[in-house]
Amino acid sequence: MFGGHHRGWVRYLFACSPEMAGMRTARAPATSANLGSGFDVFGIALSRPADVVRVERADRTTIEVTGAGSQFIPEDPEKNTVGAVADALDAPAHIQIDKGIRPASGLGSSAASAAAAAVALNDLYDRGKSRTELVPIAAKGEAVVSGDAHDDNVAPAILGGFTIATPGGVTQVDAEISIVVTLPEIVVSTRDARKVVPRETTVDQLVETVGNAATLTAGMYRDDPTLVGRGMEDSVVTPARAELIDGYHDVRDAALTAGATGVTISGAGPAVLAITRRPDQRAVANAMLDTFDDRGIDARAYQTEIGDGTHLY
Ligand code: HSE
Repeated sequence: MFGGHHRGWVRYLFACSPEMAGMRTARAPATSANLGSGFDVFGIALSRPADVVRVERADRTTIEVTGAGSQFIPEDPEKNTVGAVADALDAPAHIQIDKGIRPASGLGSSAASAAAAAVALNDLYDRGKSRTELVPIAAKGEAVVSGDAHDDNVAPAILGGFTIATPGGVTQVDAEISIVVTLPEIVVSTRDARKVVPRETTVDQLVETVGNAATLTAGMYRDDPTLVGRGMEDSVVTPARAELIDGYHDVRDAALTAGATGVTISGAGPAVLAITRRPDQRAVANAMLDTFDDRGIDARAYQTEIGDGTHLY
């Protein structure tokens, strides 16, 4: 049956199949951590933007980075988030990262690369880890960048939806909520943003935070933008970090006036996250952009929504 002509085709198909060629490609979404009241605990996957990572078996790990902000990302495996992931999975590879998410944005840029690499390498090397088991592995990559391993960005990047990451494990909830994230051309490093976090809170702030976090969680279960927006209120971490983002208070006020149900800093910033009802999404995006523009700050707005986790092609 497989005469010379057919054998040629079979060889061609094998050569074209990324799986046969020892390659995998994964797309991992941007994420927004904290959501105000859930510092280092809450996170959501955003339907866009995203990083795409391609891995190919190799004797040792090498990294190539292209795309948004790639000039600021080290290609040394000791210093790049995906190098630690390849090490943890004992999965050496040539790793190509195409950045759709600018680094130091507050949109889980390093977490997306780590998540995509973890899912792709797990499959390439047949390591058999579940998505949940890959979360702490991808978080090791986060530690390379932020000096601290926390799961609030990698959990939604891998699992999608709304995630609650605690030392006891990750809880994932699918939710349908419209979102605007506006990313100003300001750089805020996660290390710096962590330095300004207050070390102490009052009992009143603790009570308020528990109430808001519970309200937000209920809102996610009900796909209710009003509850989610209200539950993002935070009087502990967000006010301290707002000082690092020129124009934050004005942008927040403008978004709320345009119909946003809640506004907070996305992750460590400088991106600003607004929860909206779908019909108000465009007006909220324009109000945030205009306000940054009034202060002479270039920005881009993503009209997005809570989305899926890492997709393996
Ligand atoms: N929860 C983290 C922070 C997210 O806000 O510092 C950034 O990696």
